[in-house]
This record gives sequence, structure tokens and C-alpha cells, in this order.
Amino acid sequence: MLNRKIEAGDILIHENQIRTAVDRLANEISTTYPADEQLLLIGVLNGAFVFLSDLCRKIQRDAAIDFIQLSSYGQNLRSSGNIKIKKDICLPVKGRSVVVVEDIIDSGYSMVFLQQYLLLKGAKRIYVCTFLDKKDRREVPLKIDFCGYVIPDYFVVGYGLDAKEQYRCLPYVAKIQEEKE
Ligand code: IMP
Ligand code: MG
Repeated sequence: MLNRKIEAGDILIHENQIRTAVDRLANEISTTYPADEQLLLIGVLNGAFVFLSDLCRKIQRDAAIDFIQLSSYGQNLRSSGNIKIKKDICLPVKGRSVVVVEDIIDSGYSMVFLQQYLLLKGAKRIYVCTFLDKKDRREVPLKIDFCGYVIPDYFVVGYGLDAKEQYRCLPYVAKIQEEKE
């Protein structure tokens, strides 16, 4: 049951804008990633599953797909900065270039943690791809290689993003009023 109905005015990124960004990002990744390596995309669960599935079908080259899941938010809407791995990757990354695919980067803690983790596992080069970037909320320095849209500090849902497991399957991105804990 949705707690709050999304109105047309809440929509921040429409379906056609999503398609435009996905096409552009797929093209950027195809041309940037080393031509002599099989592309490896690592999606960050759960949020990135929708974006990753759109993205991989637009990339004009073969790609291996893996997933990782982190826990930091618990039931909160903001990152705790205390990050753990809930589900690890299955494919080896040693000596490989990888593209980490996120739904949204907020404080940056999750992505910095992931970069360090994958480097420790021996990854050769890590590219960061995120559909959304809440740049103003960054708490740690982070270079993003491929970004769909930079957005203001709204809590957003849809296109894989949830608020307490709600709204993930909306085909667009909408902003919702942040609930006070
Ligand atoms: P960070 O570690 O603060 O950068 O948090 C990144 C993760 O927090 C993302 O992968 C999302 O799962 C979640 N997140 C951050 N902002 C939002 C939002 O506005 N809506 C839904 N999830 C969010
Ligand atoms: Mg995420």
C-alpha cells in the first residue's frame, strides 16, 4: 500500500528523459571502457536493478553482469556511513576494469566504500556510473565517470529507487516529502 499518492507535479524525471540519459550513458560507457576487455557491470542492489537492466540493453557490446548489496540505511532515509556487505559479487574482478552502477549517489559513502572494496579485491580500474547525483549532499570526495542527472537535495523514488520499499516500480523519478524519523 502506498502511503502517499504521487501527483504529476511531483515528477522530476520523465520516462522520455530517462531514455535519453540511458542512451547517452550507454554510448559513453561503450566508447570509454577498454576495447580489449569484456565489459563488467556491477549493479548495487536493490536500487540499481532497473537502471542496470535498461543500460545493459543499450550498450553495444557484450557485458558480464554482477550485483553487490550493501547495508547502511536500515530503515532510515539517510546514510549512516556505517556500511556492510549484505551480498557479495560472484565474478572475479582481479585484474579487470569494472563499472559500478548505482541508482543515486548521495553522501558518497557507499561508493567510496565500494571503490576501496573492489580495489582490495584486485580490480584494475573502477568506473563509477550513477543514474542520479545529489551533488550538494556529498560528504566525501568522489569522481563520477558517468552520470545521468544531477538533482537537488530531494528524496526521490521510482525507477528502482524506494522509500522504505515503496514506489520502486514507478517508471519515472518523483520527489517525495521526506519523512521525519
Ligand atoms: P550514499 O552512501 O549516501 O551516497 O547513499 C547512496 C544510496 O542511498 C543509494 O544507492 C540509494 O540506495 C540510497 N539513497 C540516497 N538518496 C536516495 C533517495 O533520494 N531516494 C532513494 N534512495 C536514496
Ligand atoms: Mg543504491
